[in-house]
Amino acid sequence: MRTIASYHHKGGVGKTTTAVALAVNAADTGHRTLLWDLDPQGSATRLVGADRGSDGVAEALLAGGSLLDGVRPTTQDRLDVFPADLSLRRLDRHLGDDGREHLRAVVERAAEHYDVIVLDCPPSVSEVAAAVLYAADLVVVPLTAGPLAWSAYADLYTEIDAMGIAERPRLLAFLTMVDRRKGLHRDLVDWDTPPDGFSAVTVPTDSRVERMAIDPHPFRAVLSGRAGEAYGALWADVAGAARATSVAG
Ligand SMILES: Nc1ncnc2c1ncn2[C@@H]1O[C@H](COP(=O)(O)OP(=O)(O)OP(=O)(O)O)[C@@H](O)[C@H]1O
Ligand SMILES: [Mg+2]
Repeated sequence: MRTIASYHHKGGVGKTTTAVALAVNAADTGHRTLLWDLDPQGSATRLVGADRGSDGVAEALLAGGSLLDGVRPTTQDRLDVFPADLSLRRLDRHLGDDGREHLRAVVERAAEHYDVIVLDCPPSVSEVAAAVLYAADLVVVPLTAGPLAWSAYADLYTEIDAMGIAERPRLLAFLTMVDRRKGLHRDLVDWDTPPDGFSAVTVPTDSRVERMAIDPHPFRAVLSGRAGEAYGALWADVAGAARATSVAG
């Protein structure tokens, strides 16, 4: 079993797109996959065609309930979603001193039924983020291409260190929304070997990804086309890296 989180403390960098793309690719390559939407905005839930859950499910979970109680199937074979609900905005308050262990236990209980669990995290430096990073075997970090990409990554390390997570999570970063017409972007991605901790895969800007929210076949955008092909390659990298770090193998 592999638990993979898509995380960055900044908003709008492609976390949800990445969580959905990795989950869809995992399912498409034969893995029983669960996408857990931990952002009360519910974008991942919407992108896989599900409705937001009823208010309070997140709290029930932390009170000892099972993720399996709220799981819904999607139209992608082998892909289920645990949808977001508005109680998630109170999750920080409910995660007490043992919140990190608690959330990890919730994930581990669901893990018997799935090969891959993908967590979509809200953009924050919070107890929820710390708990998600603690539960994950691998944290995938999308960095938007541009002059601030490297400093954004350095900031992220500082934020993660400030959360004081017992085991520092393993990170795999990659550049996304790359537009090769821009010299600044070309300078960033034309590397001989990627920096340490980076995937060599870069995801291009692709309008099909933006249209996913209104596409009757939204999974196409992350399985084919320019961004879809890149996400397929990223999934292969992520699966390899997660296998190397997963306790369960
Ligand atoms: N490769 C891409 N090409 C074009 N647009 C993209 C690409 N990846 C993401 N986007 C768009 O960028 C916007 C932000 O993406 P996304 O919602 O995945 O980011 P996020 O980090 O989850 O945001 P938030 O912090 O609000 O949760 C969305 O409109 C999405 O469609
Ligand atoms: Mg998001």
